[in-house]
Amino acid sequence: MKTNDSKAIVSTRQIVKDFGEVEALKGVTIDIPQGVVYGLLGPNGAGKTTLIRILATLLKPTSGSAYVAGIDVEADPAAVREKIGLAGQSAAVDKFLTGRETLIVTGRLYNLTALEARRRANVILERIDLSEAADRIVKTYSGGMKRRLDLAACLVGEPQVLFLDEPTTGLDPRSRSEVWKMIKELVEKGATLLLTTQYLDEADQLADRIGVIDNGLLISEGTSDELKKRVGQDVIELQVGKEHQSTAARLLEQLDGYSPALDTATSKLTLSTESGPATLTRIVRLLDEAHIPPLGVSLREPTLDDVFLALTGATTATDTGDPEERAAGSRRRRRRGDAARTGGLRRRGPST
Ligand SMILES: Nc1ncnc2c1ncn2[C@@H]1O[C@H](COP(=O)(O)OP(=O)(O)O)[C@@H](O)[C@H]1O
Ligand SMILES: [Mg+2]
Repeated sequence: MKTNDSKAIVSTRQIVKDFGEVEALKGVTIDIPQGVVYGLLGPNGAGKTTLIRILATLLKPTSGSAYVAGIDVEADPAAVREKIGLAGQSAAVDKFLTGRETLIVTGRLYNLTALEARRRANVILERIDLSEAADRIVKTYSGGMKRRLDLAACLVGEPQVLFLDEPTTGLDPRSRSEVWKMIKELVEKGATLLLTTQYLDEADQLADRIGVIDNGLLISEGTSDELKKRVGQDVIELQVGKEHQSTAARLLEQLDGYSPALDTATSKLTLSTESGPATLTRIVRLLDEAHIPPLGVSLREPTLDDVFLALTGATTATDTGDPEERAAGSRRRRRRGDAARTGGLRRRGPST
């Protein structure tokens, strides 16, 4: 059997996946140590599901290699499947079974005896707080309950490695925090987790390490704190009258050497900063001195959109194709406050 000797329990080397014309993955190399929660953060279409499907042996890469627990996913998919659990983007549970039946059927698929499958289903139902609803058919469950059951189903086989593909997308805030709670409990039990998400706060809450994926490339990697240092702790949004927008933008450029992003359509300026309240105070003072009345000011946490703006520069920034260079380039631009390369202010279309 072909194995690799990396200490990582999940690792990929230069994974490429083409779907005809579409290059879903353009050479992704990742190492995930045992017991770690790795958050793969990226927008729709970035390649997250494709990578998960390759690791879960559901899809073959065009080139490159992937290993789970040291086993080559292409050489021995059956051995890999014994080690993993997968909860997909849309809950894969059968609507016409009850919650309990779902878990028992899953256990039988893992070759458990009927008795053992029933015993394990009971334990898991208790653990995920679904005991009361256990004998109702899944069709009557809320979105959050279905997602929890789907997570639970991938625990039946007691896998070493869990892949969770956008576990909370489409859930209301309450169900979302229920799923978060469940994931945190899993982690305490020592499972290694690879989870994908479109939400920065979710990666922040759950992941020890975060990889940012965009357009089939891993463009940045680090802990949540490292990522925040690159992005800034806070985001300030400032709206001024159209006649003041370029003056206001120039004033903001003097602050800390950050280049603000100007949305010319709405005259809204967005600025990342390490310290929101302090920067906000300075902004208000500068505007007052320049006799520019603010139409709106807000302080908020960074979103995925801000992460991408910080890591890749403007959406029109020159792409060298080298993710490190791309990220490093944008860090350099930020530090120098040098917006020349992107033609003055970084512009952003209206956010969608
Ligand atoms: N089976 C497929 N056939 C053709 N294109 C696909 C297929 N699966 C994914 N893609 C394309 O690959 C890219 C990455 O998709 P995906 O991995 O699903 O992204 P994500 O999960 O990050 O939203 C997208 O452009 C998507 O349209
Ligand atoms: Mg996906």
